[in-house]
Amino acid sequence: MAPTALITGGSQGIGRETALLFASKGYNIAIAARNAERLEAAATEIRRQGVEVLAHPADTRDFGQVRSLVEATQSQFGAIDVLINNAGIYCSGPTEAFSLDDWHTILDTNLWGYIHTIHAVLPAMVDRGSGTIINISSIGGKVPVPYLTPYCTSKFAIAGLTESLHSELEPKGVHVGGIYPNVIKSDFMERAVFRGKDASDATARRESVESGFGCADRGEARRCRQSRLGSG
Ligand SMILES: NC(=O)c1ccc[n+]([C@@H]2O[C@H](COP(=O)([O-])OP(=O)(O)OC[C@H]3O[C@@H](n4cnc5c(N)ncnc54)[C@H](OP(=O)(O)O)[C@@H]3O)[C@@H](O)[C@H]2O)c1
Repeated sequence: MAPTALITGGSQGIGRETALLFASKGYNIAIAARNAERLEAAATEIRRQGVEVLAHPADTRDFGQVRSLVEATQSQFGAIDVLINNAGIYCSGPTEAFSLDDWHTILDTNLWGYIHTIHAVLPAMVDRGSGTIINISSIGGKVPVPYLTPYCTSKFAIAGLTESLHSELEPKGVHVGGIYPNVIKSDFMERAVFRGKDASDATARRESVESGFGCADRGEARRCRQSRLGSG
């Protein structure tokens, strides 16, 4: 029987590419995201690889929706062999410009979303004595970056979660690993949050990150990398 990978944020960006990669290796795929139409479009593309795909709309900030996602995946495929926690959002701006709602949005998505899926899948993995959990963190989860404080807070937390879980679960046969990417051209700008001392400052930060993707020479690329990371 084919193994199963559950990938959050599987409708776009890194999550969708990861789903396609696992499908090419013969895994059954379960993907989740909030926008059902985009999720189904990704599922159609993944099915072309000849594997079974479950596209289950879910907001990972809501544990009830995550529990339904995990139950639907287990009921369709039997067991979840690989969990890839990927659904996340980016934010940039001076820390004093973020509202508490902004902080909650970032931490509820980038941290609690990962805790919810782990809480839902872990008992079955520990019972079986097998399974793999991969948490997509960020270079911003290892290196402090000014003007990315809520984002780095969430991603450093994922590093702590990943490393603690790794040492706890390795003897139980469950493998836990983290991935810490630098900037990748995905679809993250669609849902990125930019704040500034006023609206035009926030817009300038957004434009600075957007323009970073068009860098030509090496010197410019270095400046762009810095602006893309923090836009400070
Ligand atoms: N791109 C980069 O440069 C980069 C660098 C380092 C780390 N990362 C990390 O890599 C991961 C993926 O990033 P990406 O660049 O591929 O982002 P992306 O292109 O914006 O894709 C994000 C995916 O997550 C889903 N998502 C967002 N919030 C969600 C929620 N509350 N519940 C369920 N699904 C949700 C989105 O779909 P819906 O909006 O429809 O829910 C979408 O499928 C993130 O954790 C990000 O922090 C990215």
